[in-house]
Amino acid sequence: MAAIYHLFLYFLIPLVPLSLLSILALIVRPRPIRIPIKSRHVFVTGGSSGIGLALAQQAATEGARVSILARSAGKLDEAKQSIKLATGVEVATYSADVRDYDAVSKAIEESGPIDVLIVNQGVFVAKELVEHSPEDVKFTIDVNLIGSFNVIKAALPAMKARKDRGPASITLVSSQAGQVGIYGYAAYSASKFGLQGLAQALQQEVIADDIHVTLIFPPDTDTPGFEEEQKSRPEVTAIIAASSGSMKTEQVAKKAMDGIKAGKFTVACNFEGFLLSLATTGMSPQRSFWLAFLEVITAGPIRLTALFFQWDWYKAIEKWSKTKTKKESGNVS
Ligand SMILES: NC(=O)c1ccc[n+]([C@@H]2O[C@H](COP(=O)([O-])OP(=O)(O)OC[C@H]3O[C@@H](n4cnc5c(N)ncnc54)[C@H](OP(=O)(O)O)[C@@H]3O)[C@@H](O)[C@H]2O)c1
Repeated sequence: MAAIYHLFLYFLIPLVPLSLLSILALIVRPRPIRIPIKSRHVFVTGGSSGIGLALAQQAATEGARVSILARSAGKLDEAKQSIKLATGVEVATYSADVRDYDAVSKAIEESGPIDVLIVNQGVFVAKELVEHSPEDVKFTIDVNLIGSFNVIKAALPAMKARKDRGPASITLVSSQAGQVGIYGYAAYSASKFGLQGLAQALQQEVIADDIHVTLIFPPDTDTPGFEEEQKSRPEVTAIIAASSGSMKTEQVAKKAMDGIKAGKFTVACNFEGFLLSLATTGMSPQRSFWLAFLEVITAGPIRLTALFFQWDWYKAIEKWSKTKTKKESGNVS
């Protein structure tokens, strides 16, 4: 009798995860989707440098018609030549500042209806808020957040109106600083956190038009913008950012493009980023019932890991501020 009881229990144990998986398979929304890239029009803002340039090149390699937008005509031309050299594809270039809605609208109208819109432009300076001028804060929010609204608003009517062109994507390049606030990034984090709200609300508004929203969360990536930022990065910012490692531009572009094609709402670029995504997923939509399963069963342990990270970061801040105080009072050379 006891043997039958144990057998029954062994039979029951896998039933719990299997039932959870079945429920999740029924309820995850939006439904899984594939976004084709070949022969589509891919429009990349900030496509003249760094991650945007690598994404534009990746799209060209995959057979897309590519347009890139940025401010500097010279940098756009250099990017066009380098993509031509690497892929043989001639990309269209548009010189406009994303803060200027009319200029962005004109460029997007000229380029023709977009299938995959990658809103990637961004500025970042790591500085304690007390050192940041109100103008710098406004500039960061204007380019990263308001600029993204401008680009999406300009492209959306034609994207919604497209007929029989297959599923479309609106992708926003955020940052790990858009998932967790990081020392030195008050303005930058605020601008990137804003993209999360924009993306979640927008996905609900455009799902009926077969448009799928993706948010990319790169870690430190070796781009010209990053190289510039390194020059003035506070020491504590560097210590905290080191906990997520750094990546090559092409690696980030590949991860991002794979995520766009898979229609993922959230795209992490490395393992630490994946853990961060699990920890910060909150009310984000999830298309994969496997990932939803992982999110549900790891919620407690992941929260514990997040608390360990915070402990580690605050320890680094305490240590750094003690050393700074000692230095200032002349006790340490
Ligand atoms: N690199 C990293 O470590 C890292 C990490 C996480 C997230 N990110 C995000 O990834 C994105 C790309 O960063 P990146 O490192 O590749 O930067 P980047 O090398 O500095 O390139 C930025 C691109 O955006 C364009 N841009 C800047 N301001 C603009 C404006 N007002 N209007 C139109 N275009 C503008 C730039 O061209 P012009 O200057 O000619 O306009 C350039 O093409 C950003 O959103 C950034 O926040 C980067």
